[in-house]
Amino acid sequence: MTVTSAKGEVRVFRDLGELSRAAADFFCDVAAKAGRGGGEIFIALSGGSTPERLYETLSTQEYHDRVPWMRTHLFWSDERCVPPDHPDSNYGRAAAALAGLPISPLNVHRMRGEDPPEEAAREYEAEMREAFKILPSDVPRFDLMLLGLGEDGHTGSLFPGTSALEDTTDLATSVYVEKLKSHRLTLTFPVINNSGNVVFLVSGEKKRDIFRRVMEDESANLPAQRVRPTNGKLVWFVDEAVMGR
Ligand code: 6PG
Repeated sequence: MTVTSAKGEVRVFRDLGELSRAAADFFCDVAAKAGRGGGEIFIALSGGSTPERLYETLSTQEYHDRVPWMRTHLFWSDERCVPPDHPDSNYGRAAAALAGLPISPLNVHRMRGEDPPEEAAREYEAEMREAFKILPSDVPRFDLMLLGLGEDGHTGSLFPGTSALEDTTDLATSVYVEKLKSHRLTLTFPVINNSGNVVFLVSGEKKRDIFRRVMEDESANLPAQRVRPTNGKLVWFVDEAVMGR
């Protein structure tokens, strides 16, 4: 079932499995369209646990030929400040789930969580500019931006009450998140909102209240509510548990 609102399109699925297959189809359609005519494809992957099923689905044989993987650039919408082989690494978890796909290692652009945070954010900004071949004043336009929704309304590593929310000059930034007692790396709203397609993946009863607040409580001013593509599509892939069914 699909509902369209000012907050974008909401597609409701029976469970995480069905949601992930539908998201894999959406991923392939966006990639095929962006890659038409031999162009490069730019996708930012989400961290957290919800997208892992999608990544595993994409790595099945059925999806190998549906995406021009060799022309696909993979970035991340955020990262924890840990090395790539750390169990909390968003890069590490996605790379493991996507293993076997014919993606060029040159097109895998991970945030260097092991480096000093601000240095890593600057490095990532430079890497984005180089890969997108854009001028210093330009903002990269991802074909697809995958995001999750935290129970406090954060998305990427844009947490309530943090300085990263107001960063409109950098493409990527580092932020100290008091409640996590740790730094995070994240793409900023100007990049997220410049995407052609922004997809939230939200699953499970735990997300019911926050999803309702994001959709209904204008005064909440939650980070996820500030995701409004300026010239792109916003789609929520949610399961029935989120909708309270
Ligand atoms: C991260 C994420 C974060 C995540 C939400 C939802 O690094 O943690 O990028 O924004 O998407 O916290 O996480 P779950 O999917 O695990 O519920």
